[in-house]
Parts: sequence; structure tokens; C-alpha cells
Amino acid sequence: MANTASDTEYTPPPLPLPFTNPESPAPVLLTQGAEAHVYKTYFLATSNAACLKVRPLKPYRHPILDRRLTRQRILQEARCLAKLVREGVDVPGVLALDWEGDAGTNGSGNGGAWLLMEWVDGLVVRQVVHGWEKSIKSKGQDSDSAEVAQSEGEVRELLRKIGRAVGGMHKAGIIHGDLTTSNLILRPVGRNGVAPSGGSEIDKPSLDGEIVLIDFGLAMQSVQEEDRAVDLYVLERAFGSTHPKTEGFFQEVVDAYGKSFKGANTVLKRLEAVRMRGRKRSMIG
Ligand SMILES: Nc1ncnc2c1ncn2[C@@H]1O[C@H](COP(=O)(O)OP(=O)(O)O)[C@@H](O)[C@H]1O
Ligand SMILES: [Mg+2]
Repeated sequence: MANTASDTEYTPPPLPLPFTNPESPAPVLLTQGAEAHVYKTYFLATSNAACLKVRPLKPYRHPILDRRLTRQRILQEARCLAKLVREGVDVPGVLALDWEGDAGTNGSGNGGAWLLMEWVDGLVVRQVVHGWEKSIKSKGQDSDSAEVAQSEGEVRELLRKIGRAVGGMHKAGIIHGDLTTSNLILRPVGRNGVAPSGGSEIDKPSLDGEIVLIDFGLAMQSVQEEDRAVDLYVLERAFGSTHPKTEGFFQEVVDAYGKSFKGANTVLKRLEAVRMRGRKRSMIG
């Protein structure tokens, strides 16, 4: 549940024990969703940025069930990441995890299960594409067509990279389960360790870089056509609703995916069936 900061100041639950040493810089809270709190911290040395994902305890859930579910999710996420790293797919590597967490007695402990992974520099694709759409709009009608064509070419290439990344993940036997443009990071190349910052880059971010897949909280292992097709369909729908001005280029994702592994084309056939079902469902309401 998103927290509305208006009436009460939000205090996140206590951090798990390894991250509470008063002599170390405190982890910085980045996002808090219903399922996870995400922090930027570091691993072993302060020069080594890391991302901490904590799954807080859910006081409204039965404690035994809560622990079991949390543990399943954390392990699932870590196993999928480990498998993808092994298969050479670009995802953050797992650095450490604790699937038990520390509930204490009557919830007095230091919080839920957690996963520490490598930090990925860059912006999420949602920000990158929003920035691109904004820059197109601000150029308006008086920009010359060569410039427009080049800019379009860049965004098309970005979409092809996304298609290849998803293809590589499916080839490795993993279904993401929550493919949105917030779960893809565009990591700049050749700027190791320097995260993009400052308003100007957010307004007009570079479309160069490598796609890194993140957030495997709903991922699973499967090589089924149906699961793969639904994964793509989720991305297509997310794209349509988040980036209406770029939706017209989505075919680039599909085409690149189709070339990314043997069997990808049968997944694309299935995608058409999944789309039909989706349309029928939305007609019925
Ligand atoms: N390994 C990482 N490196 C850098 N940023 C990350 C990393 N993992 C997550 N993030 C950032 O934190 C946000 C939330 O993390 P995510 O794993 O997607 O959790 P949620 O389940 O809350 O969506 C991401 O959209 C991204 O901006
Ligand atoms: Mg996410």
C-alpha cells in the first residue's frame, strides 16, 4: 500500500540487524511498496554499492503463514537471479540473503526477510522513455525531420534491446511475472560507478546503454510457451498504459524477441492468442 505522507510522517520498520550498525552509513530508503522496501546501501566497502530489498512482516497475516510466504518469495527471487547470472543474463547478482528475518517475540524483532544484491547504475526505462517523450514534445513541429528520424531510431534501438533482454531471460528458463518499464534499468556503458544525476539528464536522458532486468519478486522457472507469451503481453499492456506516445514502436520489442532464441517465434504466435483473450475480456468488462 502506497503511503500518503500528508497526514502522518512515515517511519519504515526497523532494518534487519546487519544494517543497523551505528558506525556505518545508514541505508537510504528508495521505495516502499506493499511487498518490499528497497534501500541503497553497500556491501563490505562503501565503494561497493548494493541494493537491499526487505520484505517486512505483515502483522495482519498469521505469523506462521507470513513467514512461509515471505521465505518462499525471497528464495524464489534469489534462485531466479542466481540462475540468470549463471546463464549470462544481465541481472544484479545476489550478495546475501536471510529468508527467516527476525520476528522477535510479538513482532518485537528487527524486521522481515531480506535480499542484498548488486547495485545497478542508471535510470529505470520508465524514466528514460518519459524523458524521451518529453523531449519530442518540446521540440515541437519546427524540428527538422532528420533530427526526428534519428531520435526515433534511438528509441527503436532501445526497444530492440528490451526484446533481446526478455528473450535471453526466457531462453534461460525464467518468467519474470511483472514486466514493466520500472523493472528494467538502462545502465550507461563506460561510466562505471557513476550514476546519472541532475535534472537535465532526467529531462533528456541518453538512450544508450545496456538493459538490466530487475525485480524478480514474482518470477518463476518455466519454459512454457503460454507463460512466456503472457510475460510479453504484460509488458505490452504496461507499455501501452505508461508510454502511449511510444506504444507505436512496441513492434520493435516483439521483432527483436522473435530473433532472440530458438522457439521465440512460436511464443509470438501464442502471444496473438493471448491478445485475443485479453480483448475479449476487456469487452466483457
Ligand atoms: N539492483 C538494483 N540496483 C539499482 N536500483 C534498484 C535495484 N533493484 C531495485 N532498484 C530500484 O528500486 C525500485 C524498486 O525495486 P523493485 O525490485 O522493483 O521492487 P518493487 O517490488 O517494490 O517494485 C526499482 O524500480 C529501481 O528503481
Ligand atoms: Mg518493481
